[in-house]
Amino acid sequence: MKLRRFTTLIILSIMVVSVSALAQRGEVEVMINADQGKHQISKHIYGHFAEHLGRCIYGGFYVGEDNTEIPNIDGVRKDVIDALRELKIPNLRWPGGCFADTYHWQDGIGPKSERPTLVNTWWGGVTEDNSFGTHDFLNMCEQLGAEPYLAANIGSGTVRELSDWVQYVNHDGQSPMANLRVQNGRDEAWKVKYWGVGNETWGCGGNMTVEYYANLYKQYATFMSDWGNTRGIYRIAAGATNDDYHWTEVMMRDVPHSLLEGVGLHYYSVLEWTDKGPAVGFSDEQYFTTMKRALRMEELVTRHSTVMDKYDPEKKIGLIVDEWGGWYNVEEGTNPGFLYQQNTMRDAMIAGVTLNIFNNHAERVKMANLAQTINVLQAVILTDENKMILTPTYHVMKMYNVHQDATLLPIMFDNVDYVHGDEKLPALSVSASRSEDGKIHISMVNIDLEKSQTIKLNIRGMDLKDITGSILSSGSVQDHNTFDNPDRVAPKEFKDFKMSKGIITVEIPPYSVIVLNSK
Ligand code: AHR
Repeated sequence: MKLRRFTTLIILSIMVVSVSALAQRGEVEVMINADQGKHQISKHIYGHFAEHLGRCIYGGFYVGEDNTEIPNIDGVRKDVIDALRELKIPNLRWPGGCFADTYHWQDGIGPKSERPTLVNTWWGGVTEDNSFGTHDFLNMCEQLGAEPYLAANIGSGTVRELSDWVQYVNHDGQSPMANLRVQNGRDEAWKVKYWGVGNETWGCGGNMTVEYYANLYKQYATFMSDWGNTRGIYRIAAGATNDDYHWTEVMMRDVPHSLLEGVGLHYYSVLEWTDKGPAVGFSDEQYFTTMKRALRMEELVTRHSTVMDKYDPEKKIGLIVDEWGGWYNVEEGTNPGFLYQQNTMRDAMIAGVTLNIFNNHAERVKMANLAQTINVLQAVILTDENKMILTPTYHVMKMYNVHQDATLLPIMFDNVDYVHGDEKLPALSVSASRSEDGKIHISMVNIDLEKSQTIKLNIRGMDLKDITGSILSSGSVQDHNTFDNPDRVAPKEFKDFKMSKGIITVEIPPYSVIVLNSK
């Protein structure tokens, strides 16, 4: 027994010594235990968010049934449906955001010509005609093959309004709400599992203290299901912003766990709220700070998880990062309330490192939603009338979708520094998984603006032979796709790696993302 422990110690020390010796030579050895792993990377980590904000819904997803210029299915753009199906989006959060706590779902059902208008107070003060409502959204999710995640209004709604919404979309038998649904053209219930109980209730959702919200949450959550939650609803509490660990603590402590399936967390990579900097044409300094902000997700997820562990050591309750992404100043000449921004290789870096963080915390992070899908913040799609382009963020999410529902593999490596002035950040980010068919997937990001890195992937416990790869890389970190040049940034096949004695050597260029997959 003692001898075995001694031998293990020797092996570990040799590994550590050799790992740091490699680091000094500018090489990083990443140990990947391909035959191990306990936790599944929930596909829902790759979720998206669509708010009634700017041109996300109207003009982005929905152009109206009568539109003859832009091909659509029941008013939803066909090009968008195809692109999102291709992306394998697992879920879509709707209708907000801040908008959710102003939204009364009953105004968005029934004949479109009879629906009342509404003023979108949070986002540009524009008047909406309510033509995109519950049926439109849930039918669209069916088209997309994505699970809907409905964010309910508790800021200006009522308990009855929410319990009626649940009944309207989920009840199969006879009931006033189910009958109304049938009358409005939908026989079969949609069976929506994911429900948010308010949004940012510390701010636009009602400016509440967490102690007050915990009580309110209990009241709303109680009437969404029954004693044993036999409806199988997954209730997500509005979570903390950034490092408000007290918020998570109170929710975990004061809400009975029979009423709580997930706790939210919102975090944006923003330079300063007073001046968020440009989306394109940013300085190296601003790039570095954005990376610092993005990498902070590691600390936030770790520390919110630690608080949750205290009350839920079995990790039954999910940490749901239902808003994340980069946030910059809006593009010149666009409505400041519409949050329209371009998307460059910097955003590809945010996406790559953040998704690796979520993968590596798969034990607790059960869902995440990038803000937002189309034309808003770190979008995966931009539209201009009948044109549509895919952003660098889209490409990263597509390259990474191989991790969906795969088993997270334990990895170990000594990182190298990305140095900027007197400051430094870890240059590399890596995660690895094994999908059900036994294939191995490794996603790597190098955020350094100047240095490429040599990564030696030491795959243990499996003999990998056929490897394919893709890379997202570009001549400048400012590079982005435009309606005139839609494929400037696009993934390419990556063959530039060597395999020898179970070690795959990869040269990863500055600000690029590589995903390798075994066949
Ligand atoms: O995503 C934009 C806004 O950011 C959301 O409406 C809100 O929840 C957050 O503050």
